[in-house]
Amino acid sequence: MKKNKISRKEFISKTSKVVGGMVVCPAVLAILQSCDSNPASSTQNGLISICPDHGAKFDTDGNPVEGPATAPLQSYNYVFDQENNAILIEDVLPVDVSDLSVESAISLEASQTQGIDGSGILIYRKTDSDFNVLSRLCTHAGAVVGPF
Ligand code: FES
Repeated sequence: MKKNKISRKEFISKTSKVVGGMVVCPAVLAILQSCDSNPASSTQNGLISICPDHGAKFDTDGNPVEGPATAPLQSYNYVFDQENNAILIEDVLPVDVSDLSVESAISLEASQTQGIDGSGILIYRKTDSDFNVLSRLCTHAGAVVGPF
């Protein structure tokens, strides 16, 4: 899992193509605003999710701590722009995390991930500048997991 801090200048440079795309793609703007309507949730005893299908439990790093899942949730690369309190996932998806407090999580629906993940994405803020960006696809049998 890649965890980089970048300068504001680098972040602006990386996101300039995405920002340019907002002019022609209103859906991107909706993603940036979606966190307001998707309240953050706290984790429970170090867990980020319990699968609704068969009960697998995943910790905040996406590792299964109780079966039947045995593989971790897929993680995604991101860069963090501390000045703007935002992350850029896989170089294409900007997400405003200014409302996401430490040790809390938010989720994105599949339609909000710009094609990165067909099940959606979980974002867990470990510290001010360190995140876990995880797929919502359960590694057991493909159910969609969500935060508490
Ligand atoms: S535990 Fe079976 S699909 Fe998640």
